[in-house]
Order: sequence, then C-alpha cells, then structure tokens
Amino acid sequence: MYNVKSITEDLYWVGANDRRISLFESVYPVPSGVSYNSYLLMDEKTVLLDTVDKSVCHQFIENVEHLLGDRTLDYMIINHMEPDHCAEIETIVRLYPEVKIVCNAKTQTMIKQFFNFEFSDGQYLLVKEGDTLNTGKHNLTFLFAPMVHWPEVMVTYDTVDKILFSADAFGTFGTVDGSIFADEVDFDHRYMDEARRYYTNIVGKYGMQVQALLKKASGVEISMICPLHGYVWRKDLGKFIDKYQKWSTYTPEINSVLVVYASVYGGTQNAAEIFAGKLAQNGVKDVKIYDVSVTHPSYIVADAFKYSHIVFASTTYNNGIFVNMENLLHDIVAHNLQNRKVGIIENGSWAPVSGKLMSELILKMKNTEIIGSPVSLKSAVNKDKHEELENFAKSIVATMKGE
Ligand code: FEO
Repeated sequence: MYNVKSITEDLYWVGANDRRISLFESVYPVPSGVSYNSYLLMDEKTVLLDTVDKSVCHQFIENVEHLLGDRTLDYMIINHMEPDHCAEIETIVRLYPEVKIVCNAKTQTMIKQFFNFEFSDGQYLLVKEGDTLNTGKHNLTFLFAPMVHWPEVMVTYDTVDKILFSADAFGTFGTVDGSIFADEVDFDHRYMDEARRYYTNIVGKYGMQVQALLKKASGVEISMICPLHGYVWRKDLGKFIDKYQKWSTYTPEINSVLVVYASVYGGTQNAAEIFAGKLAQNGVKDVKIYDVSVTHPSYIVADAFKYSHIVFASTTYNNGIFVNMENLLHDIVAHNLQNRKVGIIENGSWAPVSGKLMSELILKMKNTEIIGSPVSLKSAVNKDKHEELENFAKSIVATMKGE
C-alpha cells in the first residue's frame, strides 16, 4: 500500500525506509536503517526528483502511482546517479514512456553506463549550470555540485517555494520515522551523531567541494532542504548548515581528546585508560575511548572529525601497526581529515615500531601536529611509564589551553 508524506501543498515524499540493510555502500553499518528519499512535485507538470534504491522499489512505485493516478509523469530530474537513488530510472521510463529525463551531460553518460535499457536521445532534457525549468507555478533551477558526492551531482532549487533539493548533502543515516520533518523529531539526540557519521564517511573527503556548494546555497534564500536521505529541514536550518561548515572545513566541534587504542592482551588498553584518566584529572571533559578492534571505523572517523585532539595507542604487530589501527589511520587520511593535534602511544614487547609507523601516516594529514614524542611501552605500563603518561596528558592539556 502507498505511503506518501506531504511536504507542501503540491510536494510529496515518495521514498521509503530500509531497516534490513546491514551495510550501506557495503561498508557502513546502519543499525537504524536508512531512508531513500524521492520527491514528487504535482504542479501543472508533474516532476519526480530522483528515484530510490532497488531494495525499496515496490513501495516507491506504489507511492508514485498512487499520487499520479490518471496523470502522467512529465519530468524526472536526476540529481545524483549513485544507485541508491537512480536504481528505478528504468522502471519509471517503462511505466511513463513519455517522461523527460532532466539531467546534465555527465549524468547522461552514467545512465548509459548503468543501464542497458535503450533510452531515446529525445528522452533527455540536458541542463547546464543555472538553467531553469518551469513546471507551472514552480521554477526549478539547477546548480552543479560536483563531488558532493560524485562528479555528476547537481542540486535543484525551487525559486518559488525556496526549496533546495540537496542530493546527498544534509542527509543522515537512519530511517524517517513517522514525520518527514527534522523539527518533529529529537534530531540532536537521535540523529546528529548519525548525520555526522554519514557526512564524514560519505562526503568527508570533499570538504572543498562542499564549501563550494555552501557558498552557492548562501546566495539564495532557503526555506526548506530536501535531502536524499533522512529528514526534511524547514526550521533551524542554520544549526545544521553550521555543522556542515565545521565538517567541511575540518574544524573540530569540541576541544577534547579522542583516545583510540589497539590492544591484544590489555597492556595498551591499560595505558589508554590510565592516560584518559590523567586527562580527566587535568580538567579535560568529554574524553572518549574506542577499542579499534571493537568499534567499526566509521564511528571513529566521525568522532575524529568532532574532536580537536586524537591520541592513537597501538601495539606493534608483525613488525608493523596492529592491522585494525592501520586500517583506521588509512581511512582517516583518505577522508582528508586535517587541522588536528595528535598524540601517540606505542607498545611492543621486543621491538616497538608502531609509533614511528603511525607518525608517518598521521603526518599525511594537512595542518596536523604530533605532540611530543610517542610514549613507548614494553609490554605493559610500569611505574616510570605511569609518570610519563601523566606528563604526556599534561602536555596535551597545555596545547588545549593554547600553550
Ligand atoms: Fe546516497 Fe551518493 O548516494
């Protein structure tokens, strides 16, 4: 049965939730599921904005058919060609053969790559930056947003209702439960961490490109943001946009320390716990500790974007960095995190090398400083090292005070 959500008097959410997906993009756990948002504008012309993932195709088609009824679909705008949004293009064209696909040239190339189905060239309405489509009461303008999150991405701006259809930007992991509006759920408590994890892992690498989109968006009045995942924003837009400003400029949200450790028999964990305790004793609030063997790296990447300081503690393994820690560091570097202060604790029972090797990876991060020399443990924390961890904590605290 159809399940549509009304957004304005002529705009509807026709997407669907997936709570059974285990790994988004085959990488990221989504314990709260994910929504695939598609929007249908019922103007003098009917306009579908993006489709959905194939996992929810049945619900999506029911929604579209219900709203259209006897009407046909005039336009299908494709803002983003990743298959979690474009999977149902072919189905839509089969159902509504007269539909015009509104997209840019890069998108058209990708449609031909992803689909064997023969779309006629006359099926396409190719648009360039700033082009406008009038649909009756509404004027839709297309603004290109390359690499947010793929090169073909554009966003669509309704100049009449001031609605930004923002593609992946301003999305979140997690389903939309009941309401479609962010102001009707406790977004800060239920979704903000997942919004951060979504942003940092999916588009975190492309801060500069997100900045370019934010600059374009700042030039127009926006009353509502309709992303491709998660809730629609119509209140407190500034709050979420401010988060995007911070995330896309790699600016920490809090002045505190994230401690991430890899420990095989507990010695390195013990050091991390003692060190975190020393931080707290020296006044640092909100210290957070992760065991890299337990927590999926996407959560740690997200908090690495949040915290100003990160301390990595790893045992030496196969004359290298413990593998989960090595993978995490590669992941953090790949996501282009920068502007951080970092501390290192290494361990190794006969030849500790993880500190030096971690430093090499960390120094690939722009504008990132390693504080002091790595604390080097042999197997476990002895009395001398206890004191060294105390001093190390104090030197981290000093940098937090700008000393
Ligand atoms: Fe939600 Fe880049 O796709």
